[in-house]
Amino acid sequence: MTGSPRPLLVLLHAFPLDHTAWEDVAAIVSREGWEVITPDLRGFGRARHGPEGPGDEPSLGAMARDVLAILDRIGTRPVVLGGLSMGGYVAMELLRQAPDRVDALVLADTKASADDEPARRNRLRIAEQVLAAGGTEALAQAMVPNLLGRTSLSRRSQVVDRVRRLVETVDPRAVAWAQRAMAARPDSRAALAGFSGPALVVWGEQDQLSSRAEQDLMVQLLAQGQLATISEAGHLAAMEAPDEVAAVVLRFLDGLPGLRRSGTG
Ligand code: MLT
Repeated sequence: MTGSPRPLLVLLHAFPLDHTAWEDVAAIVSREGWEVITPDLRGFGRARHGPEGPGDEPSLGAMARDVLAILDRIGTRPVVLGGLSMGGYVAMELLRQAPDRVDALVLADTKASADDEPARRNRLRIAEQVLAAGGTEALAQAMVPNLLGRTSLSRRSQVVDRVRRLVETVDPRAVAWAQRAMAARPDSRAALAGFSGPALVVWGEQDQLSSRAEQDLMVQLLAQGQLATISEAGHLAAMEAPDEVAAVVLRFLDGLPGLRRSGTG
């Protein structure tokens, strides 16, 4: 690791959620002395579009530039960049734009491959639908059963309610913009293959949206990739089983050469 000894863990959220997707994991990791930030991606949470709209054509590149601008404001620090699903796509895009800014990676319930044509068309259709509806209740109904694993759906009603509320209250313009951005995203396999730093791939074993095969592919592509599986959790393992996800992230952070939490060493 190069630069300052005070590393920063940056955790990017999933679609169509906001920074709170990571808040439980971030609280545990920061209690252990690591500095963590959980930015909202463009259109979501505290980064909600203003009346003038998103300002750019939909692209994950724009989201990655927003994250880079935050890193620029913070200054030169070793960065452990983490992303959950769409946050992972943005992390891979950032890796393409500024590979020198990333010292280590955490990719959670995401994938490196681009969409096939039916998936792309489906995203564009959803974008039109939410804009036409002017709301996201129908989207929440369709998405929540897929975002969560069967254990959460049957036994973690608070998590189900929390995720449903997040999806129901998201700005339809942010949903449409992000769906169009994800539809246009390129394949990220080369970006991962070009990354030589340590990388943790975290996967909820009940994830219905990012397959185990996609996780194995990322681990194979990464020079120093390792997989951690989370039992009884699905696509939003970070919300469904935050203690378990935080534990694997902490083990990964503790093993990073040259990085230490504040107050140690
Ligand atoms: C997410 O959780 O961010 C989404 O499932 C990503 C996607 O739609 O591909």
